[in-house]
Amino acid sequence: MSSLVIVGAQWGDEGKGKITDFLAERSDVVIRSQGGNNAGHTVVVEDNEYKLHLVPSGILYPEKICIIGNGVVLNPKAFLEEVNSLHEKGVATDNLFISDRAHIIMPYHVTLDILSEESKEEDKQIGTTKKGIGPAYMDKTQRSGIRVCDLMDREVFRRKLAHNLEEKNIILERVYGVEPLDFDQIYEEYLGYADQLRGYVRDTSRMAYDYINRGHKVLFEGAQGTLLDVDLGTYPYVTSSHPTSGGVTTGTGLGPTAIDKVMGVVKAYTTRVGKGPFPTELKDQVGQWIREKGHEFGTTTGRARRCGWFDAVIVNYAVRVNGITSIAITKLDTLAGLERVKICVGYEYKGEVIKDFPASLETLEQCLPVYEEMPGWGEEITEARTYEELPVNARRYLERISNLCDTEIGIISIGPKRTETIVVGEIY
Ligand code: IMP
Repeated sequence: MSSLVIVGAQWGDEGKGKITDFLAERSDVVIRSQGGNNAGHTVVVEDNEYKLHLVPSGILYPEKICIIGNGVVLNPKAFLEEVNSLHEKGVATDNLFISDRAHIIMPYHVTLDILSEESKEEDKQIGTTKKGIGPAYMDKTQRSGIRVCDLMDREVFRRKLAHNLEEKNIILERVYGVEPLDFDQIYEEYLGYADQLRGYVRDTSRMAYDYINRGHKVLFEGAQGTLLDVDLGTYPYVTSSHPTSGGVTTGTGLGPTAIDKVMGVVKAYTTRVGKGPFPTELKDQVGQWIREKGHEFGTTTGRARRCGWFDAVIVNYAVRVNGITSIAITKLDTLAGLERVKICVGYEYKGEVIKDFPASLETLEQCLPVYEEMPGWGEEITEARTYEELPVNARRYLERISNLCDTEIGIISIGPKRTETIVVGEIY
């Protein structure tokens, strides 16, 4: 058995799509376990760029099995659009499967996500992707959600939709003062999706279990990032699922013994979309420079990402809560050209230096980053193919990060293409 979990070790957008695609080549199965089409994973193969939201990043290898696990919330329309756009580009989806236990995103989830955000004052907004993710997970934990297996049965679906829509329409009309949604329209639309989805639906927990027991290599593709985890992130500025490695087991229907190793993906700096505290955020020209050079605009929403220096406090925390065994560091090429680079090694809070990421947002808001400054490297590095070919100052920067975060570096990504990747350790 050999399996590897890929987790985002910051606030998402760390480059997990590229790393998953790169590692998918040496895997047999790629599984997503949480989130939905709030995720945006960009994969570049030769001169083609693919933007994936729901489909696992292993899809670009025709022989790999790709699974959307039970912990994912699935928007059928978004899924079918993504599948169609892959077909148009000549990518086959014969080996793509969806868990019969995954919850379905309904139109009222999307409407409620938008209304709930827009009804809040600017400083109270979460800054969600408005894809209905939170409301769908709310129904799931409230035990009223509609699952893929329910959608496959016209009668069960009709009953559950009728019950849910009655309740949601009361909220839409009385709380938000908007028009109710029409039952027949949603029912017919979703039955159409059901027919198109049917061929993809399986008991994916059984599938994954059997693949593992037969000795296949399994890659678990994380979405979002550790600091967006509903338990372990910067609550309430988080997503509604568990992007940490713990979420992989419940989100796929496998036990923890199915996991061998955990790779944390980190950017060589830090970014965040949406609201919430961000101690190393750069609101100056350097932040702007990083945003432009790194093309830091959201894959899903197009929003400009907030940019800042590498925060070792955060990544150290991510190493602990995920059980990270090595890290993949991405976008090192973006920093080339900066005269000096900084790493946050602790937070100054009420006159003391703290190294553990605090739970309280009020505390975090008062934390000032304590920086270590290092010389940058002027030369571009995208052509490097071995560790030794990297400029000495880039290597020093990496070594310091590895040391501060108490973990080994396994992969260095120096550009969006598959070839622009340096493997420095044993992965799996
Ligand atoms: P939601 O997941 O749409 O509910 O959004 C909740 C928070 O998670 C917001 O701050 C989003 O910007 C953030 N978020 C959700 N998905 C991603 C992602 O894939 N990358 C980065 N941030 C994300």
